Amino acid sequence: MSESKKVLLAVSGGIAAYKSAFLARELMRAGVEVRVLMTHGARAFVQPLTFQALTGFEVHTDLLDETAEAGMGHIELARWADLILVAPASANTIARIAQGSAEHLLGTVILATSAPVLLAPAMNKHMWANPAVQRNCAQITELGHELIEPDAGLQACGDVGAGRMPEPEVLSEIVISRLSSLHRAHPLEGKRVLITAGPTVEAIDPVRYLSNHSTGMMGYALARACRDAGADVTLVSGPVALNVPVGVKCTQVQSARDMLEACLKACTDQPFDLMIATAAVADYRTREAVPQKIKKSQDEMLLDLVKNPDVLATLAEQFPLTFHVGFAAETQRVEEYAKGKLGDKKLGAIVCNDVSRSDIGFGAVDNAVTLYFAGGESLELVKAPKDQIAKQLIFAIAPHLS
Ligand code: CTP
Repeated sequence: MSESKKVLLAVSGGIAAYKSAFLARELMRAGVEVRVLMTHGARAFVQPLTFQALTGFEVHTDLLDETAEAGMGHIELARWADLILVAPASANTIARIAQGSAEHLLGTVILATSAPVLLAPAMNKHMWANPAVQRNCAQITELGHELIEPDAGLQACGDVGAGRMPEPEVLSEIVISRLSSLHRAHPLEGKRVLITAGPTVEAIDPVRYLSNHSTGMMGYALARACRDAGADVTLVSGPVALNVPVGVKCTQVQSARDMLEACLKACTDQPFDLMIATAAVADYRTREAVPQKIKKSQDEMLLDLVKNPDVLATLAEQFPLTFHVGFAAETQRVEEYAKGKLGDKKLGAIVCNDVSRSDIGFGAVDNAVTLYFAGGESLELVKAPKDQIAKQLIFAIAPHLS
């Protein structure tokens, strides 16, 4: 167990609250100091006395309770915790945290903390699948908190599906692994990072364009991960339907040439320590974008295409001291092609991703990748949400920066 070992276990309303009693015990067995906060809903399922007896400390329940605030106020509690685990996280609690509500103790503590916040959602499978809940979950991730995917199986209400809180032993293991990585939670402190993301769009005429299926999700996830790792992040993004991560500088571009220009401009003051190119840059553009809409007067139309500049290869050539990471989107001979690009573009590393798989390809929530370093090292990251893959990539890449 590392130095960081103080966990605030926040229990919200749901039948899985009974499992949190076992979770508190598991954590304490592993040497973690546990304090418990219970929402009003949680107290309908389990008595605070249960947690008080297990942890030996009074349970925190109310925001405006003078005696409790005199003991350890909400700000102090927020400062005390090395990590906050919300388990179970009910649909209502997720909505409040997503909104940044300070109406109750839990929301206030989360607003006031700088500790990592993990949430273990638990609810009926239809509630979990509801778009409103999923939208709130997406906002929670954007805020930099981590969601622990619920298990699927038989639910307390008799339904079978996704929404069960993972078992206490599993949650305890996740918490312990996050605590042990806390001392290296800012591996990019003081570093400047440039990320390209999304597709590029190459105009054919004022109405039509050439582009691709990239949604920008992986690039935006990496921008958040780099920001959370302490970096000063600049994002150069093609057109996507995503919110710019808070605290990240972003230049929106259309074409490959715009993207290259924006990247070069961003490098003028000072070169970056790290550049990660996730953009799916269109390889070709039409020789000339026609100023008026092309009419369909003929049965056939031939587009005269010319090659676009390679943004990543150009930057790697001009700024050899920057550590450049490429993304190889392949559908066949994945490793061979990816390693070819690693050498050809003079990169420090390449992330190789099989886009022929619909469960991890363009627009998918998850990804599974292999990271190859120029030095020969490699790392396989199994299928996980893109935010998690992004964090793992950053932790793997950071030690390679000078
Ligand atoms: N890339 C780039 N500019 C381009 C093409 C690619 O910056 N004009 C970058 C991508 O952002 C990615 C890496 O190069 O990080 C590899 O991109 P990919 O599309 O997989 O390969 P290409 O070099 O375009 O080769 P091909 O299309 O033949 O696979």
